[in-house]
Amino acid sequence: MSDTFLSPPDHVAIIMDGNGRWAQKRGLPRVAGHKQGADAVERVVRAATELGIKHLTLFAFSTENWKRPEQEVTDLMGLLRQYLRSKTAEMHENNVRLRIIGDRARLNKDILASIEAAEDLTKNNTAITVYMALSYSGRWDMTQAMKKIATQVQEGLLKADSITEEVIAQNLNTADTPEPDLIIRTSGEQRISNFLLWQGAYSEYYFTDVHWPDFDQAVLEQAVKSYQKRERRFGKIPAQA
Ligand code: FPP
Repeated sequence: MSDTFLSPPDHVAIIMDGNGRWAQKRGLPRVAGHKQGADAVERVVRAATELGIKHLTLFAFSTENWKRPEQEVTDLMGLLRQYLRSKTAEMHENNVRLRIIGDRARLNKDILASIEAAEDLTKNNTAITVYMALSYSGRWDMTQAMKKIATQVQEGLLKADSITEEVIAQNLNTADTPEPDLIIRTSGEQRISNFLLWQGAYSEYYFTDVHWPDFDQAVLEQAVKSYQKRERRFGKIPAQA
């Protein structure tokens, strides 16, 4: 991109929406859209790495997505299984670190085993960290953090008075991950859908009409350019920011 002198956002998070509509427009079954969506995942990881983005979070399956028709859940889990099996080695070669955020207890044992193997294999990679949000929701994350904190208080390890924003952040699934600078949502919807609720408090948002299967480097560059034009004030006045 021409504006390479401007630094890219450190952390980009994406709500990958519109697989179903992409398929419907072409008279194809929804699963065909999810398949193309998996290809777009591979493209965006490559594009983000090239742009110098160091953290990329992808909302692949939400807590609420478990309520979709059983066949669609099976199809999505099948694609994820296939993705992990066929792409882990390539991600490792490309120096990509893979991490999962979400409720691991709800995932199939074999998928969890592939995830843990991929996390272990790629743990020292440095080009980019890709966080796949699976069985994830912002409210779930805050709830599990509260349970952990309450247990620490109950066991006398933490005083209620010592609960700070940092303590809460450190108990989220995203502990030790910078907050997202830019959150992108595809396919025309303008809502957060229970994604990174705590972490996105000061994120910049970018909405595009492009359906997720059509997402590519050019769309990512447009989003990054839009981000680079914004003034982030974090509640301060422009002179301070
Ligand atoms: C939203 O489209 C997308 C999802 C619910 C799942 C995202 C899944 C992928 C990108 C493919 C599989 C992922 C991996 C990592 C292999 P939608 O179904 O809600 O679309 P619609 O709103 O048009 O119906």
